[in-house]
Amino acid sequence: MRTIESLGDLRSRTVLVRCDLNVPLDGDTITDDGRIRASLTTIRELRDAGARLVLLSHLGRPKGAPEARYSLAPVAARMAELLEAPVAFTGTTIGDAAEAARARLRDGDVLLLENLRFHPGETSSDAPARAAFASELARGADAFVSDGFGVVHRRQASVYELAQALPSAAGRLVEAELGVLRRLTDDPARPYTVVLGGSKVSDKLGVISHLLERVDTLLIGGGMLFTFLAAQGHAVGGSLLEADQLETVRGYLAEAERRGVRIVLPSDVVVAEAFAADAAHEVVPADRIESSRFGAAGLGLDIGPESARAFARAIEEAATIFWNGPMGVFEMPAFAAGTRAVARALTETDGFSVVGGGDSAAAVRALGFTDDQFGHISTGGGASLEYLEGKALPGLEVLA
Ligand code: 3PG
Repeated sequence: MRTIESLGDLRSRTVLVRCDLNVPLDGDTITDDGRIRASLTTIRELRDAGARLVLLSHLGRPKGAPEARYSLAPVAARMAELLEAPVAFTGTTIGDAAEAARARLRDGDVLLLENLRFHPGETSSDAPARAAFASELARGADAFVSDGFGVVHRRQASVYELAQALPSAAGRLVEAELGVLRRLTDDPARPYTVVLGGSKVSDKLGVISHLLERVDTLLIGGGMLFTFLAAQGHAVGGSLLEADQLETVRGYLAEAERRGVRIVLPSDVVVAEAFAADAAHEVVPADRIESSRFGAAGLGLDIGPESARAFARAIEEAATIFWNGPMGVFEMPAFAAGTRAVARALTETDGFSVVGGGDSAAAVRALGFTDDQFGHISTGGGASLEYLEGKALPGLEVLA
């Protein structure tokens, strides 16, 4: 993969840098700035090299037109604080104002353009439309650095076509993320344990079947555990259930047994009367969810304490651990204990621990853990899962 060195001397060169600055916002307030921090290494290095930086990113999923709530303005302000340097922001992505702002850049200056997805060309399924948008972005620039790891699985203009329109290379974040993922796939230290959570089995189908060929232990929590319990013949009350995935899940359970992979499901769950922070709740055995006082209406919203201890033990015994997806509805304190226990076990293990992805990364920070307590916190959930699935990622292929 081409790295920044391949671009030669960047002094006084205008360099476009694709970052993933897609941070969670509450109104104008950034609730987790991890992705901004993660992009600083490359930005600082390019500034020190005397480049004139034009940063590109998406935020959220606007539908090809401007929407104030998806503006990158709060990100520009936070980026300036973290860099301790001005970050220009004109509120435009292409066109005269954006070009004028670029023309004003001096060596080491930084400009952040407005959300790429305010333009239909960015995410268009039509390759010529993406190429046309990429060539507008590329106008007047000398080089492109691809550092938005969270979007390398997207065939989008600023990820794929832009890398073809200019001399291009991977940034330091993409390099670092890839180094970690290779460590997980090429020759992981064993035992290798993967903890999967999150709401839907259907989002994780590819990765589960791929992982069954590689891991020693798979711990299943989050909303998708109920489809596993149902596949084993247990009633799950009103819990999240993907009935159309039952056969697939039974296939996984059989395959795991054939391969000697240990799939660990929770032995107890926290069942609530309703999906609400203040809902009445109690702990019941996972195979008797409907025995709670809420009967068939009870909703499983977290793994129970016995399961949390068992998951923590399995994590402590592992030499390599990858975790993607919360164990329960961690945003509500009553249902955060399972996710907290898994996060704590990852911080206490001597093994190499990787937290994969936006949601899980935001969860550990929201629960008060810090990045340096983990082996690595990935900035890309979808991207790292697709890599672990063995898929070719367009944003990496184009830099090969
Ligand atoms: C993410 O949040 O996973 C990345 O920023 C990619 O966003 P997307 O799923 O909207 O492409």
